[in-house]
Amino acid sequence: MQTQLSNILQEAKEQLKNAVTEADTEDLRIKLLGKKGRLTEILRSMGSLDPEERKTMGQAANSVRNEIENLLEETFANIKELQMGLRFKVERIDVTEPGIQTPLGTKHPITVTIDEITNVFTSMGYSIAEGPEVETVFFNFDALNAAANHPSRDLTDTFYISPGVLLRTQTSPVQARTLLAQKPPIKIISPGRCFRCDTPDATHSPMFHQVEGLLVDEGVTMADLKGTLDLFAKELFGSEVKTKFRPHFFPFTEPSAEMDVSCFKCGGKGCRICKGSGWIEILGCGMVHPNVLTVGGIDTERYTGFAFGMGVERIAMLKYGIDDIRLFYENDMRFIGQFK
Ligand code: DAH
Repeated sequence: MQTQLSNILQEAKEQLKNAVTEADTEDLRIKLLGKKGRLTEILRSMGSLDPEERKTMGQAANSVRNEIENLLEETFANIKELQMGLRFKVERIDVTEPGIQTPLGTKHPITVTIDEITNVFTSMGYSIAEGPEVETVFFNFDALNAAANHPSRDLTDTFYISPGVLLRTQTSPVQARTLLAQKPPIKIISPGRCFRCDTPDATHSPMFHQVEGLLVDEGVTMADLKGTLDLFAKELFGSEVKTKFRPHFFPFTEPSAEMDVSCFKCGGKGCRICKGSGWIEILGCGMVHPNVLTVGGIDTERYTGFAFGMGVERIAMLKYGIDDIRLFYENDMRFIGQFK
């Protein structure tokens, strides 16, 4: 029996040496110490021994059992430690490793310019209004006092979607929509996309952006218009620029004007940007035509207003010295990434 016990211990040692997983070790534990194990069998058979022998053999068997228990514990601990070490190796984070830089996007130059323009007006208390890009002939032309035979209505100038529906050719329809939706005092600025049947070249694009402005209140005069737009020009191009208003025609304003700013590149001496004239045309404007106010349900005896509209691409090109409008839409990151 003594030999049996030392064999059991010897074998247990051998087998435990080969255990590499916790599951292996658990299987061995059941095999070595479980109810059906040889050691349990021996312990069970003690009853048949005489008392003296039972004592020595009992002690021997128990000490083998203890030793196997200790070995099992050791094996479990070793495997755990090994696995932990392995996990530390695999999951180790090198905090000194330089990070991978995610390239940061930039705003599109048109968005940058729209933000610059609208910020000047929102800081003067204007709110932003929006209108649909797919517009009705009514809002794009009729409500804006455009003559029935006005050339801009032509199929060659306007993208018609169906009779009476078109892609807006200007942001001015937002004026008409706002007049119908709000009561004076009205003070809005409206940036957005416009569309015209133009063949793309350095200065034309069938899709472009405008910013529209409208102010309606009691006692609004041309002086308010000039003061507001002069301040706007100084905010956008620098406090040293001067402005000049030239008479012009727009169906929805009377009187109408175009505003020029003194060339912010040469200071008015004449250069490539201002084509030698010292002045640069920036926007169209005027006092809102009574017909437009009337369509909008505004009492023309009580209220007057002014309006203005400008091309965003044109302003961005002048400000940033860009000589081809198509650059805005090619999405070449080397170009559009320059405007922060
Ligand atoms: N809608 C005009 C255009 O596309 C620009 C414009 C001129 C808008 C005068 C206005 C304005 O509001 O008063 O050419």
